[in-house]
Amino acid sequence: MNKRKYFSSGLSLLMLVVVILFDSCNNKEEAFSNRKVSFNSDWKFHLNDSIIDKDTIGVSTKWKTLNVPHDWSIETKFNEKSPAGYGGGSLNGGLGWYKKTFKVAVADSAKTTSITFDGVYKNSEVWINGHYLGKRPNGYIGFQYDMSPYLNYGDKNNEIIVKVDNTKQPNSRWYSGSGIFRNVWIETTDKLHVEHWGTYVITPKVTAEKASVEVETTIQNQNSTSKNATVTTTIFKEDNKVTSVTQDITIGANTNQTIKQKAQVETPVLWSVEKPELYTAVTEILVDDKIVDQYKTNFGIRDFKFDLNKGFILNGKKVKIKGVCMHHDLGPLGSAINTRAIERQLEILKEMGVNGIRTSHNPPAPELLDLCDKMGFIVMDEAFDMWKQNKTKYDYANDWHEWHRQDLADQLRRDRNHPSIFIWSIGNEIPEQWNETGIEIAKELVAIVRINDKTRPITAGMNPPVNMNIDAVTLQFEKKNVSVNPLAGSGVLDLIGYNYAHQTFEHHLKNFPNTPFIATETTSGLQTRGYYDAVSDTIKKWPVQWDLKFKGGNPNNTVSAYDQVQTPWGSTHEATWKIIKKHDFLAGMYVWTGFDYIGEPTPYEWPSVSSYFGIVDLAGFPKDVYYMYQSEWTNKTVLHVFPHWNWKSGQTVDVWAYYNNADEAELFLNGKSVGKRSKKGDDLHVMWRIPFEAGTLKAVSRKNGKVVLEKEIKTAGNPSKLKLTADRSTIKADKNDLSFVTVDILDANGTLAPNANNEIHFSLKGSGKIVGVCSGDPVSHESYKATKHTALAGKCLVIVQSGDKSDRLELTAKANGLKQATIVITTE
Ligand code: GAL
Repeated sequence: MNKRKYFSSGLSLLMLVVVILFDSCNNKEEAFSNRKVSFNSDWKFHLNDSIIDKDTIGVSTKWKTLNVPHDWSIETKFNEKSPAGYGGGSLNGGLGWYKKTFKVAVADSAKTTSITFDGVYKNSEVWINGHYLGKRPNGYIGFQYDMSPYLNYGDKNNEIIVKVDNTKQPNSRWYSGSGIFRNVWIETTDKLHVEHWGTYVITPKVTAEKASVEVETTIQNQNSTSKNATVTTTIFKEDNKVTSVTQDITIGANTNQTIKQKAQVETPVLWSVEKPELYTAVTEILVDDKIVDQYKTNFGIRDFKFDLNKGFILNGKKVKIKGVCMHHDLGPLGSAINTRAIERQLEILKEMGVNGIRTSHNPPAPELLDLCDKMGFIVMDEAFDMWKQNKTKYDYANDWHEWHRQDLADQLRRDRNHPSIFIWSIGNEIPEQWNETGIEIAKELVAIVRINDKTRPITAGMNPPVNMNIDAVTLQFEKKNVSVNPLAGSGVLDLIGYNYAHQTFEHHLKNFPNTPFIATETTSGLQTRGYYDAVSDTIKKWPVQWDLKFKGGNPNNTVSAYDQVQTPWGSTHEATWKIIKKHDFLAGMYVWTGFDYIGEPTPYEWPSVSSYFGIVDLAGFPKDVYYMYQSEWTNKTVLHVFPHWNWKSGQTVDVWAYYNNADEAELFLNGKSVGKRSKKGDDLHVMWRIPFEAGTLKAVSRKNGKVVLEKEIKTAGNPSKLKLTADRSTIKADKNDLSFVTVDILDANGTLAPNANNEIHFSLKGSGKIVGVCSGDPVSHESYKATKHTALAGKCLVIVQSGDKSDRLELTAKANGLKQATIVITTE
């Protein structure tokens, strides 16, 4: 197959070769079967925000050349009046047009050529050469169109046009982004081929000795004659062939046929969180001994169940799900997916001990699931944030009637081979959970899931499943005139999904004696990284009533980063985890949220524009509570002491420490002990309340009197210099890879200046570009797509993207009055 056929006419030959190389390097699937090629580069884009030609594009339209994935909203200005509202991140949507011209080789006129979009937010409509291919309102689901009947072959150009309508706002409770924000692919196959998402691999019986593998393959014959073919499925572990099965078929003209093949894998290497081992099933269709199609499916062999009493059991072992919920945006990069950016998020979470991801509240980018397969995460794959009833005026509820069946089925077919997925969620806090309609809809959705996958349990995030003895919730139940959440009590779901209500977790077996537990969403703690009210329990208390809007808070819209502040419906990070860790039947939890995200700046409104919920901030810098989890969720030895040590002389300050693998911690201020502390009972931290004195605070953790770890925090002098640290100093020269560079503002002695908020200016020499800047400050209105940014609590992030050639990139950071810093990033 000739990869060179899909190129935009305007490219120079050099660019062309590079684009082709880039495409092939980045897509293993294509390298393997040469069936699917990237179609990301060189689109033309027009943001149509003028009223006059609202719905049309014409000769006068001005086009900008860019590559997708692309999110135009992230480039707009934060705007108090944005119809998206502060919930949507105060960034505008709008109407965007994309087009691309390309040629297709004559040799392909006998084949099927399809275009696949992994996700376009939202209301996409697609035309090829003036022919309408279709529309897709849901922004998070992938879809494919067969373009073959409308293509020009040979020298004549083809033109594809994509209209993206994200005008009607608000349509989301969080920042959605706008545009072709996921990958686009061209798939070229023989007319006889494996259908899109056409395989389903399950491992119904797994023992240490043997695993049975069942492969269901749907084959599509688009020929006008029937075909005799042989279908061979070969299972590989890396490059080694494990086993294969073959079947002859006769398939009628213009029909689909599904076949089932069974294989055995001896002494299977099981997929687990610690060792996420993958297998590959390669399906080949042969006609007259010639391979006409080759299709690759990654899968894993694992055995699991949710046990009412023992919780989640994976390969015979109890595994507590220590998960986090994530929205799809990538902070300063917006919602345009980048595989390295997702991988970095997952690496940071893995380092903290996270072993589970909930894709709240929509189907994720396929690359996230691939990474979870490879890195070992227990995924809860969620479909919807609403059903028929709206949460925001223009949201998916308006498309529900026409689209929910297809969207859900497509999500299932797209995702069901991922070994990392263990739970399907059919919805989050769906308003209809409270009435009969909800039960009817749930039944319909459950049936759709079961048609497509019977191997995983189904749940929904219910808020909450059962009444609890706090006034606000009791009120909620009384208002609805129910004692148990009707959806939770309906018996329709396989797992009772708790959103919050940690007070009721311990009574789960009494309340739901037949259905296992999962905490679909917990905590909703709130923090600004690096900001502290010096005495942790003097911070303002939060309203306990559900219907009360938060009043008060700090004038600069900060939230203290001691784990003390929570939403009225949530808990501190410690409170929920303390309960979950206590009982085996509590299978695990997904904390709201792993990372901060754009939008939903609870407890504040404008001028805040991004969330406070993250354990990690928007830039990817951990907040302090990250180390509480790390001390509990990993075997790493941890000693984390906070806050910083820059206060007013004599001021009372609370010093907290998270530690593990030790039986005490002692704190020294300028060499003098201020006391030893040990965690008692279920404590997860220790604290000293001491008067501030400038100098050095040193914590020492000990076990049986022997020093385990020591940590020092020093009072910083005036900000004096910048320091740059790259997460990776060599990246691929593929116009896609990223280096995430941390900027620290230091005093003359190299101590982090914890209150420094200098504006930092960046410049880059070489073949690459700066694609994002961010400090993690939820109140900042500076663009993430700039070359300058104001630091928060002494830190800032700058993201560098490679160009298309091997080079030595020189990144320089400057700020008024500070010594500048330069770092070299090699691209190869
Ligand atoms: C939940 C909801 C999440 C988020 C969270 C904030 O109720 O499911 O999407 O809004 O509250 O605390």
